[in-house]
Amino acid sequence: MSDKSSEKDQALMEKIVSLCKRRGFIFQSAEIYGGANGCWDYGPLGAELKRNLKDYWWRKNVQEREDILGLDGSILTLESVLEASGHLGGFSDPMCDCLLTKARLRADEIDPQSGTSYHYTGASHEESGWSVERPYSVLLSENQDENKARKTARLYYSQFLSDKQISPKKLELAGESTEEVTDSTSYNPENGSLLTAAREFNLMFKTKMGASADENDPKGTAYLRPETAQTIFVQFKNVVDSNRVKLPFGIAQIGKSFRNEINPRNYTFRSREFEQMEIEYFCREEDGMRLTDEWLETRLSFYEEIGIPREHLHVLDVPDGERAHYSKRTYDIEYEFPFGIQELEGVAYRTDYDLKKHREHSGKPIEFFDDEAKEKLLPHVVEPSAGCDRTILALICEAYDEETITDDKGKEETRIVMRFSPRMAPIKVAVLPLLKNKPELVAKAREVQSMLTPFMNVFYDETAAIGRRYRRQDEVGTPFCVTIDFETLGENGDEDKDTVTIRERDSMEQRRIPISELREYLLDAIV
Ligand code: GAP
Repeated sequence: MSDKSSEKDQALMEKIVSLCKRRGFIFQSAEIYGGANGCWDYGPLGAELKRNLKDYWWRKNVQEREDILGLDGSILTLESVLEASGHLGGFSDPMCDCLLTKARLRADEIDPQSGTSYHYTGASHEESGWSVERPYSVLLSENQDENKARKTARLYYSQFLSDKQISPKKLELAGESTEEVTDSTSYNPENGSLLTAAREFNLMFKTKMGASADENDPKGTAYLRPETAQTIFVQFKNVVDSNRVKLPFGIAQIGKSFRNEINPRNYTFRSREFEQMEIEYFCREEDGMRLTDEWLETRLSFYEEIGIPREHLHVLDVPDGERAHYSKRTYDIEYEFPFGIQELEGVAYRTDYDLKKHREHSGKPIEFFDDEAKEKLLPHVVEPSAGCDRTILALICEAYDEETITDDKGKEETRIVMRFSPRMAPIKVAVLPLLKNKPELVAKAREVQSMLTPFMNVFYDETAAIGRRYRRQDEVGTPFCVTIDFETLGENGDEDKDTVTIRERDSMEQRRIPISELREYLLDAIV
């Protein structure tokens, strides 16, 4: 990506973030207390948008399918579950700290750098007699002044001074030597400071359950689940025993997951608290690969149905060696975010790994009895696992648009319009009386509002000029505005009595429609 286009994308992202706050889609969590890093609160419009996405996902994947059942599992998860699933031992990221600023970085995300490394063995302050012996290094790229290395090293050693009145500039550095390094990931790309060696950092949030003070009580420790999937595997037998199912069949769940991400970033993209929409689709082993390919197509169609076109999605067939060790095939569905092409969803063939692990650790027989084949087996599983918050972010990025329009007086202005698909739009229709000081118009508009509210999210607005009210709705993506005017009241003759003007957001076209047809018309568009 060229510098120009990345600047443009960054500017676009800033506009999106600003609109989301201004219009109440997304707020930073605990903002008035300085903000909780990696946590986000959805405002009134964001909450509607999220609800629309989750409801549509649920409808398509649970209610409209005979082969998938729903589940709503607990977030607090026993240690034994996560020990079996491998999260306790293995759910970690390699992390290192900047020795100078203490910033925590993900070791596997540091870009390799080359240059001259300046090594030091320690520092001292002659006047006070203070000294410290510790190896430290600073990496300078070509053309950087060597004094920068010395300044950084002095700052580093000054952390160990007990007398904070002593200026770092007064420190004498010891044992300076240099070395050329190539493609090193041992230095902070921001300031050249040496990093600590990488350590594994478990991403799970741990908590105590109940009043037990015993550290070793296995039921006294719980974790906030790092994925919704494990509840499904753990409840597999109960779901099978309480329902009549035959292979292949799935169990679906939408819910919160928590990961103590080292670097939450890119707005809501990588958060510490987020929602997942996951399906575990159980099948016979011989069908696993085929069903993985079928699920990929089903999921790609889903994104198109919610307004994310296929050409903005990418499919990565994760190569051998980069997949989870138990997965025989994994596709990542990626979206072209302004900050780069990034994962929205994984479609993974997880074999029988999870059920096998829970059978082994729980000691319980969780096999499935296949009535048709008259055999007991442990099914394999295909898992389409989507991030709800990431999909919301993709919907918002996809919807954001600016266009230049010319008003009636020939003046050009920028129209900001969120082109959400009507299915996802937080507000489906705005009902607007032409004037607020004409009681008949207001009464009629309220009547139309009451007629529609049981079926969809309706917004009533009587303030400001009608053009301004349209713009306000464009900016939050309301696909339709309905205006109650004098024709509606029959003041200009009977022909248009009890009709309203319906204005379409994208084309801005307006036409008249009888109030009696309005509900059907809108329902057809938003279903
Ligand atoms: N059960 C499989 C699983 O959890 P994953 O690839 O770790 O797989 C699935 O997560 C999806 O969950 C991702 O594709 C992404 O959309 C979402 N996700 C994962 N970590 C996230 C985070 N820190 N913030 C927001 N969404 C996240």
